Amino acid sequence: MCGIVGYVGSARSTEVLLGGLRRLEYRGYDSAGIAVIDADGALSSAKKAGKLQVLADELAEHPIADGPTGIGHTRWATHGGPTDGNAHPHLADGGRLALIHNGIIENFAPLKAELLAEGVEFTSETDSEVAAHLVAREFRQTHDLTEAMRRTVALLEGAFTLLAVHADQPGVVVGARRNSPLVVGLGDGENFLGSDVAAFVSYTQRALAIGQDQIVTIRPDSVSVIDFDGNPADASEFEVNWDASAAEKGGWSSFMAKEISEEPEAVQKTLLGRVHDGAITLHDLEPIADRLQQVDRVIVIACGTAAYAGLLGKYAIEQWARVPVEVELAHEFRYRDPVLDGRTLVVSISQSGETMDTLMAVKYAREHGAQVLSICNTQGATIPRESDAVIYTHAGPEVAVASTKAFLAQGVALYLLGLHLATLRGTLSSEEIAAQVAELEALPPKLQQTIDDAADVTTLARWMADTRSVLFLGRHVGYPIALEGALKLKELAYIHAEGFAAGELKHGPIALIEPGQIVFVIVPSPRDPRSLHPKVVSNIQEIRARGARVIAIAEEGDAAVLPFADEVLRIPLASPLIEPLLAVAPLHMFAMELATAKGLDVDQPRNLAKSVTVE
Ligand code: F6R
Repeated sequence: MCGIVGYVGSARSTEVLLGGLRRLEYRGYDSAGIAVIDADGALSSAKKAGKLQVLADELAEHPIADGPTGIGHTRWATHGGPTDGNAHPHLADGGRLALIHNGIIENFAPLKAELLAEGVEFTSETDSEVAAHLVAREFRQTHDLTEAMRRTVALLEGAFTLLAVHADQPGVVVGARRNSPLVVGLGDGENFLGSDVAAFVSYTQRALAIGQDQIVTIRPDSVSVIDFDGNPADASEFEVNWDASAAEKGGWSSFMAKEISEEPEAVQKTLLGRVHDGAITLHDLEPIADRLQQVDRVIVIACGTAAYAGLLGKYAIEQWARVPVEVELAHEFRYRDPVLDGRTLVVSISQSGETMDTLMAVKYAREHGAQVLSICNTQGATIPRESDAVIYTHAGPEVAVASTKAFLAQGVALYLLGLHLATLRGTLSSEEIAAQVAELEALPPKLQQTIDDAADVTTLARWMADTRSVLFLGRHVGYPIALEGALKLKELAYIHAEGFAAGELKHGPIALIEPGQIVFVIVPSPRDPRSLHPKVVSNIQEIRARGARVIAIAEEGDAAVLPFADEVLRIPLASPLIEPLLAVAPLHMFAMELATAKGLDVDQPRNLAKSVTVE
């Protein structure tokens, strides 16, 4: 939430900052702004409510002086509405200092009262402006921006990434972070700061991950890092493993359309190097290999779509490895005094690796003795750094705010974990493991086939553009898929949608069914040994009898659903644990197409931001 970019180098800050903000806009799009110090040491800034394009248009009409040093911000509003005045950067010291902030300063009220008593005038309703005036106050004492930042962060409570520039120190950008993301891009005669590597990946793929409670000072030829006590600190360098083109639309109508089309590739890349000759090799788990032998319980913590992926993993891990698995929303987990010990494996799932709720739950779990394995899609992110081990999904950058391809990659990573644990615990034979590995390896082409065959989804979505409510039913692995289908429809198309376990229907939700109610049903395979298929077909009949319009997602050749469904979307055959994953792409496409039919922005839905870095 809130995208941050900083730059020192050549005299083209404006271009670098706007380019970086364009790539970070998924983090917030309520307002945007930049501040630039020109070659003569004069600071100018511009900021506008609305999407980044509004600022870009403003700058095209009224350019500010360009220069070698600058900072830029795209906002997701917390304190104070999305207005020009509340947009960042915030100025202080008579307009000689500019500061941007991502996060929430929890003690801003007493600090503001203190500054007001000192005669400081505020021009916004934000918590962030407090930090600008504090850095300015400390700068007047120290004449050193790094030290001023260090003294300021000692006064702040909450979560923050702060970047500041001062006209008296041109050629310097200072950043600080606590519980909010910040990475450095290492250039040649220029350096960059960003909320994530997308901010600068078109200029450099060399990056430094800034650790918790660290302050970084970038100049054109140097980067120095200290901790909040002022001691020199290490930052780990890494190479970004994707290039700028991966974060471009590349001819697609939206990032969402592109990212759904990449679902097969996301799965394939997540499997790559981890499955061989019918067996699983998870080198990622080496840091926790010893303790993994002792695990007697798994708790998955995550939020939103990532939590639904966690539910997929529960079915697979319990069935294959015979370890009890709980799945819990990260923001609930740490406030309920969970029972944890050294035999508990906590698995955190996060596409961004920055979700504050998940990060806090990870820290809590480790502090209380559990070992934490993270499943993450973003190199250099905070959650993997705070974990004992990490399985990176290789879904590639997700730019659309709603998560799509990462969901499948996360599910597959959990399936790999399930098979790894089954191997360790001897709960599956090598033949059984090989059979499941073959199923996973066959998933990408089947996903591709599903996407290629999904023309009916587009027709359905257009036909339903005026629908006010859609229900999604599934059982077993189909249940988390139903939850995901409903979430995607809510967030992209702003339509009331609910996902239910099909068996739960008769315990209450069936009261929602009235003539014309649209219900998607993910139908289990008739080959499922648990005989869930006839039960779900009965559920379909129960809702049809009450007037529902049923769209069944069923495997090829399943004729039993035909008499009872208004529409049937077909998916290829796979094993019962894996087949429901094939229903994901049609549901993602349905939500996207319906939102498009309503004329909505599928990449940047209202009120949302990717990477939720506030609690
Ligand atoms: C839904 C969506 C969110 C995220 C959730 C967790 O489409 O994108 O529900 O899944 O905010 O985000 P990460 O995975 O980055 O921790």
